[in-house]
Amino acid sequence: MDLSLVIPTYNERDNIHPLVERIHRALDPLGIAYEIWFVDDSSDDTVAVLRDLEARDPVVHVFHRELERGLASAVVRGFERAQGRYLVVMDADLQHPPELLPAIYQRLVDGIDVVIPSRFVEGGSDGGLGPLRKLISWTARVIGQLALHRLRRISDCTSGFFGLRRDVIEGADLNPIGWKILIEVLVKGRYRSVHEIAYEFVARDFGESKMSLREQWNYFRHLVRLVSQSPPDRRFFLFCLIGLSGVIVNEAVLILLLYGFHARDTVASVVASLVAMLNNYLWNDRVTWKSESSGRGWGWKLPMFVGISAVGIAITTLVMRACEGVGVPVPLGQAIGILVSTTWSYWMNSRVTWRN
Ligand code: GDD
Ligand code: MN
Repeated sequence: MDLSLVIPTYNERDNIHPLVERIHRALDPLGIAYEIWFVDDSSDDTVAVLRDLEARDPVVHVFHRELERGLASAVVRGFERAQGRYLVVMDADLQHPPELLPAIYQRLVDGIDVVIPSRFVEGGSDGGLGPLRKLISWTARVIGQLALHRLRRISDCTSGFFGLRRDVIEGADLNPIGWKILIEVLVKGRYRSVHEIAYEFVARDFGESKMSLREQWNYFRHLVRLVSQSPPDRRFFLFCLIGLSGVIVNEAVLILLLYGFHARDTVASVVASLVAMLNNYLWNDRVTWKSESSGRGWGWKLPMFVGISAVGIAITTLVMRACEGVGVPVPLGQAIGILVSTTWSYWMNSRVTWRN
């Protein structure tokens, strides 16, 4: 079997026939062996439509679930049944055009590990979403990319449309919560190359979206779980969290020195910053890089950490000034600077302070 399509369905009765017809028109000319796995959780008569098709069309297979529900887990069950060397996941509602399948397949055959049709590369569009969904979708992508470094270079990391070579997920323990099967694959899979192809995400003709507030919450839970299971992402998250704790320590010490000990402003400010730095150092040493024994004592690590933090402050200010130069307000420029310097100091600390 060359190619398996895995298509999750939930109440899509009117979309099944046009979908399968368009898949045939797109794939039959390639002369390859392919199959379609529908994994269905519908509560309407979609399953009857699917069963009828299964009886007549040899490429169609149906797995109807009673005990489990949910888009991402449906795809995992589809992967378990699929026989193809290459796998493509797509929605049933024709928002993902089957006409793209030959191009996806060709790239997989050419040796690309993961192929993602993208709404956000040159030539693509997400015209099928309303303005609120667009904003939610954008926020979801940005949060995902901040939390998980493997998503950062991928413009449409929350796509429900993608192809992969089967061995990308061979042995990976896929256990997604909710909808976003692709981020599970991108975080847990074994791959080198990812290609994105522009496409237009069009509006539905039949039925409606099943996206809900509950799925957005599930997405958040899914991210938390992936971060906690992925050591580099977990370390970066802890580093940022400890950085925030440093701000609280800094302010608390400042207030104590100013009002408790009537210290001079400059002295209070400098001492507060030093205590905060020590706080951050200790937490990072005990928690973030706990399992990293560089074999060096605090006599190396502490001065390194302090030095890196000092350069980090300089970077923040430089970035802020650069932003200011192109008209960005100072507070926003400072925020961008903090982001840059945090990333930089994380990178330095993980390579110099806590590593040989
Ligand atoms: N088996 C199963 N179980 N299928 C489901 C379930 C479920 O609980 N919920 C939804 N589906 C199926 C739908 O029938 C459809 O085929 C597909 O999953 C996507 O659902 P939609 O409700 O159409 O989602 P959307 O259009 O709002 O968003 C989709 O496209 C975006 C762009 O690619 C999703 O795939 C998003 O994850 C994606 O970002
Ligand atoms: Mn849809």
